Amino acid sequence: MAERLEDIAHKLVAEGKGILAADESTGTIQKRFETIGLKSTGESRRDYRDMLFSTKQAMRDYISGVILYDETIRQQAADGVALTERIAASGALPGIKVDAGAKPLAAFAGETITQGLDGLRERLQEYYRLGARFAKWRAVIAIDSAALPSCGAVRQNAQALARYAALCQEAGIVPVVEPEVLMDGKPGNHTIGRCYDVTVQTLREVFAALAEARVKLEGMILKPNMVIDGKGARKASVAEVAEKTLRCLRETVPAAVPGIAFLSGGQGDAEASEHLSVMNAAGPQPWKLTFSFGRALQAAAIAAWGGRRENIAAGQRAFAHRAHMNHLAALGQWTEKAEKQT
Ligand code: 13P
Repeated sequence: MAERLEDIAHKLVAEGKGILAADESTGTIQKRFETIGLKSTGESRRDYRDMLFSTKQAMRDYISGVILYDETIRQQAADGVALTERIAASGALPGIKVDAGAKPLAAFAGETITQGLDGLRERLQEYYRLGARFAKWRAVIAIDSAALPSCGAVRQNAQALARYAALCQEAGIVPVVEPEVLMDGKPGNHTIGRCYDVTVQTLREVFAALAEARVKLEGMILKPNMVIDGKGARKASVAEVAEKTLRCLRETVPAAVPGIAFLSGGQGDAEASEHLSVMNAAGPQPWKLTFSFGRALQAAAIAAWGGRRENIAAGQRAFAHRAHMNHLAALGQWTEKAEKQT
């Protein structure tokens, strides 16, 4: 019998576990590989991802699910094992990014709309057959100190997220709903107060649209940004980021949502872990709070690996360390001391 959406959602936010976002599009992974001077090919992308998914103890103990890209969900490792099977063997759930990227929104200069709804019903059915039990769709919300975002752009992105989420649930797939208010966008000089206001506005629109689309809140996961000042104007303390993020979420996210899994959005590795940990240490919340990090779980592993076979163990050690730090953060137990022990 198919697993219930609620059970899948709870599995994704199981105690001390979080999601590895490994769904970089071909263009994005190429940029990551350029930092280590590695050519991005089907084979190098496969080998890199297999290195992560084969990090046995970290995958088993700290990772609940892995978000894949369309290419990866169809790939087999060098030893012939499907990458989805490698993930499933560790006990984690395979997931899939189903959006087709953020494109300029007509008549809204500087803002985007995420595409990919056409044919989504059929694609979800295929992804289910390929083993995906959850999906991701990322809406990008531009932010500046005064004019952006527009109400129109926020609403249109919320509606697309809601239509995606309803289609996922129809297919037996848990939607991870990701409205990202950018930290590292341009101009990037907004205050934390401005991020708070825009994130509240965005999440209100998103939950209104989800209700209108009859999305079951018990069978979804929210993937938001933390409330934080722009990358070029970072001043807020850890305590302030944690306090404002929690306040924003408590005002906007219904308690029926089982879990909130944050994106890292360009924060430093340790910084993202510390923020998550301080929020979890603040006491029980209506929902589980965990991670769904891309860069903050992978950057150190890519650097340690460097695209060389002889560095696979070093790459896995770096990934295992970040996964461990975020496991501690999901429990509210991250410490600077643990961070320094590699
Ligand atoms: P980052 O943690 O690097 O922001 O990536 C998470 C993600 O999946 C963005 O869509």
